[in-house]
Amino acid sequence: MVCERCKGTGFLTREDGKVDLCDCRFSEEDVNRVLGIPKRFWDKELENYIPETDEEKNALFQAKAFAETFGEEEGEGITFWGPPGVGKTHLAVGILKKVYREKGVRGFFFDTKDLIYRLKLLMEEGRTTRAIRKILDAPLLVLDDLGSERLSDWQREIISYIISYRYNNLKSTIITTNFPLEGEKKGVKLSERIDPGTVSRIYEMGRVIYVGGKDRRRSGGLKLWDERGRKGS
Ligand SMILES: Nc1ncnc2c1ncn2[C@@H]1O[C@H](COP(=O)(O)OP(=O)(O)O)[C@@H](O)[C@H]1O
Ligand SMILES: [Mg+2]
Repeated sequence: MVCERCKGTGFLTREDGKVDLCDCRFSEEDVNRVLGIPKRFWDKELENYIPETDEEKNALFQAKAFAETFGEEEGEGITFWGPPGVGKTHLAVGILKKVYREKGVRGFFFDTKDLIYRLKLLMEEGRTTRAIRKILDAPLLVLDDLGSERLSDWQREIISYIISYRYNNLKSTIITTNFPLEGEKKGVKLSERIDPGTVSRIYEMGRVIYVGGKDRRRSGGLKLWDERGRKGS
């Protein structure tokens, strides 16, 4: 998906030697803004997710298949779970952009914690109705980092409500979480953070994919600072 005019550089050199920003830079910015994608993830695409482990290969395969077969009326969802830094948010963002570009379906990205916080502010101002409708009825919604914090009763309720409504009305939801949904193993499970009924709806909404691998935020491959602490490229 490299721009033919600027060959992906984002710059165009005019005949007089001056440099302009290529239009594609603006349109890329638009895509990210329209979908509510946080700046850190603006350059993330399924095309630049490089899988190393078999689990990562499977996760990418499933993400592509989901985006390619996405149908607005089908209510199919996808959930990525696994340790931090393995690219779950990257995959969710990649799907959202691919579906928008190729199917013209406009979804929304939300960090779940941020979503709850914003709803709380709106509620205090008595202005929740329109915002919540937008979230309930979006044809595709990303709930990123679900269950990352202990939730109060009110917060659990709102998350359950959003997921149940979307489940009942065949609206597609993409979820990422650091926790297994349920199970025998020790440690936190999503079913302890949100109510178990909501967890079973997540299973019914679509595939649940484990993403293994190493934490790319800590690994050498993505080192942003050299040994002297200078910022690299
Ligand atoms: N397989 C991958 N290929 C390219 N970049 C990756 C890959 N996995 C993770 N990253 C990058 O590592 C960083 C952390 O990934 P992120 O999606 O935030 O992880 P998670 O949501 O699983 O905690 C991001 O900059 C992401 O683009
Ligand atoms: Mg994440």
